[in-house]
Amino acid sequence: MKKITKAVFPVGGMGTRFLPATKSIPKEMLPIIDKPLIQYAVEEAIAAGITTLIFITSASKHAISDHFDPKPLLRKKFDSEGKQHLLDKLTTIPSGITRVFIPQGEPLGLGHAVLQAKDIIGDEYFSVILADDFIKPGGDNPTKQLIDAAIENSASVISVEEVPDDRVSQYGIADINNNGSDVNVIETIVEKPALEDAPSNLGVIGRYVLSPEVFGLLEDTQSDKGGEIQLTDALAMLLNKPDNLYAATLKGKRYDCGHKLGYIQATIDCALDDGDISADVTQFIQSLTKNV
Ligand code: UTP
Repeated sequence: MKKITKAVFPVGGMGTRFLPATKSIPKEMLPIIDKPLIQYAVEEAIAAGITTLIFITSASKHAISDHFDPKPLLRKKFDSEGKQHLLDKLTTIPSGITRVFIPQGEPLGLGHAVLQAKDIIGDEYFSVILADDFIKPGGDNPTKQLIDAAIENSASVISVEEVPDDRVSQYGIADINNNGSDVNVIETIVEKPALEDAPSNLGVIGRYVLSPEVFGLLEDTQSDKGGEIQLTDALAMLLNKPDNLYAATLKGKRYDCGHKLGYIQATIDCALDDGDISADVTQFIQSLTKNV
């Protein structure tokens, strides 16, 4: 298998659960402390060996391309003022990394978003990263885990995590042939099943390494009742061949930042780890909860 060097970042969703904030910016630009979700995702990808970043964007929202712009005028100003710490903060992508922006046109679902990357990916395995699934940095790199497993098994690999019963119907759910390790063959996968129909409680989370075979399957995937092309439906078709799709158990701490509670939890967790503010935040939380 060729080296896996391309990552797709679908950022064209409507983000209705975060309106009105998402009227003009994608939810992937929401910051955890002082860094947008998309920046954390890009850093994870680059640390895993990715060198081409492919953003599938919503035509009306330009904040992500602005964020990754090198900002030469501002750099010059900070440089002439000797403000190295601010120059460092402006560097959102190291040199040697290629950025590609592809407008999705219409928000027709995650599968449709991934399909837009077909021509630029070609015949290589590639990574897909959903930045709103925030995985706290500092532990094992989840994208690297998937890349290693894909190379070892010559197959597509996706991240899974146990989800509580009351959230099963909001996830793609996979059933695995458990061999006792972290990486297992998937036997079935279904998009957002009712709890009683779910084959397990292993939720598919926003990290994937996929074979280019998935593009043909996405082209054959019918839209769902809501008019969206679901990535999970194309992944289910990968199961038509044996040992073609694996699940890797996520080792990191994940927060679903596509909804308010997950976003606030991620922010508090990271604030309590941030040396500049953690003591004050702890004190503040204690003061708020003293009389509860
Ligand atoms: P979500 O299922 O969270 O949908 O998308 P959403 O539209 O962004 O958010 P809500 O449900 O309306 O609040 C999962 C991922 O797929 C991307 C999103 O940006 C997010 O990273 N996506 C979704 C697209 O890029 N295009 C789409 O058409 C749909």
